[in-house]
Order: sequence, then C-alpha cells, then structure tokens
Amino acid sequence: MIRIKVPATSANIGVGFDCLGLAISLYSSVYFEENSQKLTISGCPEKFQNENNLIYQAFVRGCQYLNQPVPNLKITIKNNIPISRGLGSSAFCIVGGLKGADAWFQSGLSKEELLSLATKMEGHPDNVAPAIYGKMVSSFVDSDDNIESVHFDINDELQFITIIPNYAVSTNQARSILPSEMSYQTATYQVGHALALAKALEDGNLALIHKSIVDKMHEPYRSTLIPDYQTTKEICESFDGTMYISGSGSTMMCIVDQTENGLQIVDQIKALHPDWNVQHLNVDTQGATSEMTKVIV
Ligand code: HSE
Repeated sequence: MIRIKVPATSANIGVGFDCLGLAISLYSSVYFEENSQKLTISGCPEKFQNENNLIYQAFVRGCQYLNQPVPNLKITIKNNIPISRGLGSSAFCIVGGLKGADAWFQSGLSKEELLSLATKMEGHPDNVAPAIYGKMVSSFVDSDDNIESVHFDINDELQFITIIPNYAVSTNQARSILPSEMSYQTATYQVGHALALAKALEDGNLALIHKSIVDKMHEPYRSTLIPDYQTTKEICESFDGTMYISGSGSTMMCIVDQTENGLQIVDQIKALHPDWNVQHLNVDTQGATSEMTKVIV
C-alpha cells in the first residue's frame, strides 16, 4: 500500500498573514490500498467516512488532473494534527489525497503542480505550500493565476513550542472579525517587519524575531478569540520565547533558541492547563513524502 506522510504547518507567523507558513515536525499519515468495494475509510469520525471526505476528494481531483479512472480505495488515516486549531489539518487532507493519486499512478507530479492543485482546493497557499515543500515558504498568486513560492531555511537553533488549547477557533469567524481595509502606514509597517522576520528566522536572531513578528493585520483582532492568549504570551516571554497565533488559532506557537527555556515553557503551560496539548518541536525540512509499505504505523 501507499503511505503519504504530511507535516503539520503553521501559517502567518505573525506578520506574514495569508502568505507565510512553515512546516513543523508533527506528522499525519494516510494509507491508500486496493479495495473490493468502491470506498472504505477508517481513522476519522464516522461522518467523514464517505465520498465527501476531503482526502478522498483530493485523491479524486488528482485522478481527474492525471486523466486516470478513480480506483476502488481503502483509506486509513493516522491523524496527529488536531482539527480547527490552526495547524494545517485541511492542508494535510488535501496534500495527502493529491499526493496519494500521484503515487498511485506513479505520475511524477512536480511540487509546483501539486501546489497549484492544492491551492485551488484550499483557497490560499500558506498552509499547503510548506506541507508540500517543508521549511518556511512565502507564496503569492501572480497575475496569470500561477502560484509563486519562495523557500527559506529556518536556523537549526530555533525550536517551536506548539501550544494547542482544548478549544477550537473557527477560521470563518477569525477571518470575519478582520477589518476590510488597512492604511498605507500599516502596510509599510507589515512589509518592513515581514522582510526582517524572514531574515531573522534564517539567521536564528531571536531578538530580531521578537521585534519583527509583532503583527498589526490580524493578531490584535484574533487574540480576542483566544481567552488565554495574554497569559500564555507572558509565560513564553518570561522564558525568552516569542509567541504568535498559528494560522487562525487557537494554537499559539512559541519560538525559542534554548532547549532549557523550551522545556520550562512546556512545564509551566502544562501545569496551568493539564488538558492542553503542548509539544516541543522543530521545523520539518522535507515536506510531504510517499513510500510503499506493508504495515500501518
Ligand atoms: N492564513 C489563514 C488565516 C490560515 O489566517 O486565516 C488559516 O487557514
């Protein structure tokens, strides 16, 4: 059977609203194998075990693009990316399904083709791009509707504390509370900060990360949807960490450059919120991978 493994992703990274995203070392897998029936899906809630399943829909989209018939499929999902928490769970489904079709027909789709197909399904590239490429990716749609993506290394010293509350934030709500316009002054602020942030992340310059990540475009509005935003930020900053809202939340991501500080932050937040999922992770540098396997792990 085919296994597609996809990293979780963290979009926006403060000042990169709707264009920056990075892949982190938290993985979900989806397995595809032949089936005597049209479709069997396991590993997700029953309401998603049908043809509307996003992984299946992406697989079908991949078959259409490749001009291939949709095979009878058994899909097994091993998901570690929590849903509606701002960690790219829908990017996992879309990239997993498209890449599954590519592997099934051994068609050798390029990453550019995958990104274009995935962006059309997701609506924006900031999660699907790092899910495909790994590392940090800045993307935009050009005037011919092509997706341009630019890739950045993240300094090895940097570690990412993924702080996942026990409540969700709806992306629709998190988008609907944003203003529809912003001033030239704010646009200038954002461009200057985003460029500095990309360089600071490459250099591992935590002081510059801390200054440049401060967003004015979405985070001030969205922080109101996360009741624990301020206290979590204070804990992160008391151990030299820099915190931002991952995607549209509710996950908060903290960047540190000292393992000891990261461990302290994990301990403090777990002590305050024993039912939150707090993980000490790194950047994923590979993006989604496929392999043939006999076992489901
Ligand atoms: N860039 C998107 C947002 C990510 O912040 O709304 C969520 O899908």
